Amino acid sequence: MTDRKLPRLAYNRVSILGAFMALVTMLIMTFLYVIDVFATDTNPYFGIFLYMVLPVFLVLGLVLIPLGMIRHWRRWKKTGLAEIPTWPILDLNNPSQRNATLIFFFGTLLFLGATAVGSYQAYHFSESVTFCGKVCHAVMKPEHTAYMHSPHARVACVSCHVGPGADWFAKSKLSGAYQVYAALANVYPRPIGTPIENLRPAQETCEQCHWPQKLFGAQQRRYDHFIYDSANTAWPIDMLIKVGGGDFRSGKVYDIHWHVNPEVQIEYIARDKKRQDIPWVRVTDKKTGAETVYQSDSPFTAEEITAGQKRVMDCVDCHNRPSHIYNSPDHAIDMAMASGMLTTSLPDMKRVAVEAMLGEYETEEQALDSIEARILAYYRENHESLAADRTGDLDRAVAAVQTEFARNIFPEMKVRWSVYPDNIGHQEWPGCMRCHGGKHTSASGETISHDCRSCHTIRAQGSGDRRQVAWTEEGLEFVHPVDIDEAWREMGCFECHSGQQP
Ligand code: HEC
Ligand code: HEC
Ligand code: HEC
Ligand code: HEC
Ligand code: HEC
Ligand code: HEC
Repeated sequence: MTDRKLPRLAYNRVSILGAFMALVTMLIMTFLYVIDVFATDTNPYFGIFLYMVLPVFLVLGLVLIPLGMIRHWRRWKKTGLAEIPTWPILDLNNPSQRNATLIFFFGTLLFLGATAVGSYQAYHFSESVTFCGKVCHAVMKPEHTAYMHSPHARVACVSCHVGPGADWFAKSKLSGAYQVYAALANVYPRPIGTPIENLRPAQETCEQCHWPQKLFGAQQRRYDHFIYDSANTAWPIDMLIKVGGGDFRSGKVYDIHWHVNPEVQIEYIARDKKRQDIPWVRVTDKKTGAETVYQSDSPFTAEEITAGQKRVMDCVDCHNRPSHIYNSPDHAIDMAMASGMLTTSLPDMKRVAVEAMLGEYETEEQALDSIEARILAYYRENHESLAADRTGDLDRAVAAVQTEFARNIFPEMKVRWSVYPDNIGHQEWPGCMRCHGGKHTSASGETISHDCRSCHTIRAQGSGDRRQVAWTEEGLEFVHPVDIDEAWREMGCFECHSGQQP
């Protein structure tokens, strides 16, 4: 009786099991935590296990201790074997009670301390790119891969998808819980649908890092192209893109970021879910309250306009692919050639590479094998001696095309450039031409500008003896690299160019 170190009640199977469980979990967690602190690169499941699974067992173990004691006490009371008061009498002169109190006191302190560190770590982990992009590896592979090759590769997923503040944090964890379920139960859509309806307004995400007033002047950019001829003729186009935001005092209209000038508000109604067909646009001057409505040549009826959901234009109406950029085969191969990853010295390389990427494949593995087989077969059949002499060049070319495929096309998730519209320009998707196609007019007869020079000026274009360089402020008139007559004036580029050979 006297050699007992703890109160009698604690000696029951449930409490002992609980204490044992808590102790073992605590030891494992301490050990893994030390590894996590010192290891540089750990598996994402490691974090889930350490910060999300183990704590459940720890708490369960700790809860079992008092539960077992209560059960034990109830049983004693029922049998009437011992005289037990309803509440424990704390007597620190009694060694078993003193031990229990000390254990409880220091145990609680230790547990609270560990919980603070643990939940801080768990919070960080659940906000990390590893958690968002790699845990549900199969589901998020396209987004994560494209993201890693985008200008935002060092910006955390949550900076755009959650943003600061407690309310969106809570919302994201709630919808996140469903997403984890969808991934585990394998009920997620392939591809994941866009636009994301409840994406947080860009003022609270993008504008934390880029704000309209910071966007001014113009930016020089080069758009590299290679013609689908046997020589893979280069056709670079150098342009000055007018990225300014109009006048920030008066809201006066000029330059691209005028749409997000704080002095104006643009609303639109789209006919389709992907927001590609926009028959109605309203511009409001916030200072004077003056409104201008533009309607396309296939307008909505009055009822459709009243019933339609009006969306206020913000960054993601143009920049809907700031991070998940899935390049088309045409564009991906152009960039691989421009950067020197893919040789232009093999005849027909551009056409053969694009065609190899275009195939319909079930899995990535199958795609990579077929790409190799197709390219090698093409040169064996059409350029026999070259195929025999230049095996090294051919192998490098195959590897470059495979790399481009794996970065941009994801057969398992059915993700490719053609399922996600890109609204930034007008080359492969209508983009700006959803409103600037020259078909939107106001009641007073003004048209939303379609002038090639309102958004950019061409500083140089073409190559070899067809190279032109501008010497004037207005820049050059566009020259289409192959003869299509004047078709480019009447039709949108995207009507012929869809990411493959037009
Ligand atoms: C620079 C901002 C930004 C970052 C960083 C970012 N995203 Fe996105 N993401 C977006 C935007 C904007 C959309 C909305 C596209 C739309 O609605 O058309 C989007 C869409 C998505 C979609 C829907 C499918 C798709 O491909 O469009 C998923 C899934 C997604 N993001 C996951 C992630 C993951 C995982 C990460 C981190 C690895 C991440 N995002 C990082 C801005 C970002
Ligand atoms: C946490 C900060 C952060 C957030 C949030 C963020 N960005 Fe960025 N953004 C960056 C950084 C850093 C760069 C790279 C700058 C550079 O290369 O000079 C960048 C670059 C860009 C560029 C230029 C890309 C290029 O091709 O050079 C665009 C466009 C852009 N961001 C748009 C957006 C949009 C739209 C959003 C919201 C969906 C957003 N950003 C959210 C930090 C951020
Ligand atoms: C009307 C369409 C449109 C809207 C709306 C828009 N942008 Fe842009 N933005 C462009 C275009 C076009 C470019 C230049 C081409 C490119 O980046 O590919 C650009 C370029 C940029 C750049 C890189 C250029 C630079 O000077 O640093 C950043 C950063 C950027 N935008 C951020 C934003 C942010 C933030 C918002 C929302 C406040 C926004 N944009 C709204 C069309 C738009
Ligand atoms: C939802 C419709 C809509 C979309 C999409 C849109 N714009 Fe606009 N844009 C307008 C309206 C409306 C005006 C003002 C009309 C005017 O005064 O010409 C305007 C004006 C402009 C101006 C100033 C024109 C001038 O006369 O100086 C530029 C530059 C511009 N937009 C560029 C772009 C670019 C680049 C894109 C695509 C990345 C784009 N816009 C997409 C509706 C749109
Ligand atoms: C409403 C603004 C706007 C108008 C009008 C406009 N463009 Fe563009 N254009 C853009 C933007 C924005 C880009 C850059 C897209 C990007 O960075 O990906 C672009 C890109 C281009 C490119 C390079 C495309 C590429 O991907 O290589 C060419 C060439 C071009 N435009 C020609 C024209 C011609 C010709 C016209 C007149 C028929 C015209 N543009 C009218 C906004 C406009
Ligand atoms: C009537 C259809 C049509 C229209 C409209 C059109 N193109 Fe093309 N484009 C072609 C064809 C056909 C080729 C030749 C493909 C080849 O052999 O390289 C081509 C080739 C090109 C190339 C070189 C090869 C490549 O695909 O990169 C560029 C650059 C180009 N076009 C830009 C534009 C731009 C910018 C516009 C809009 C201002 C435009 N095109 C409008 C049909 C069209």
